[in-house]
Amino acid sequence: MAYSIVAYGDPVLRAQTRELEKDGDIDVKQLSEEMFETMQNASGVGLAAPQIGKSLRMFIVDTTPMEDEKYPDFKKTFINPEILEESGEEWDFEEGCLSIPGIREDVSRYEKLTIRYFDENWKEHIESYEGIAARIIQHEYDHLEGVLFTDYLNGFKKRLLKGKLSSISRGDVKVDYSMRFPKKKK
Ligand code: NI
Repeated sequence: MAYSIVAYGDPVLRAQTRELEKDGDIDVKQLSEEMFETMQNASGVGLAAPQIGKSLRMFIVDTTPMEDEKYPDFKKTFINPEILEESGEEWDFEEGCLSIPGIREDVSRYEKLTIRYFDENWKEHIESYEGIAARIIQHEYDHLEGVLFTDYLNGFKKRLLKGKLSSISRGDVKVDYSMRFPKKKK
């Protein structure tokens, strides 16, 4: 089952997220599959649980469409992740977000990171990433902290985008995947 993706302005994108439990009532394998289905429908490369309305510490990444030579088959589920370290130079890259369709802006982030997480089989991993893969992880991890990439923009850019962001919240935006808009008129 695919979900609708929650649009900018929905409080769930800012809500506190909780950790999953190994023997809890959520089937993480099934949820992971449903998140991949949802993300693929929207042609995304990353999706965090708050974006489908669930305040859980979980996200998925699939960079295979980007043909990242460093990580050619990077398709993973991150459960209860913790970024242990970020390092290297900060670099700018244009980011987008399935919850904020039609907006792309440069965001500065550290080049490398080390992350600890559980996969969908509850196997623990500690891995290091750099470049695009690291950036997508940082972007998705931010979602678990209630942070969106537009939060990093300077005041001038934020003011420029204010109207566009309001339009997205109202559903006044062209998008070819299923979304849920917080301020849509019934
Ligand atoms: Ni996003």
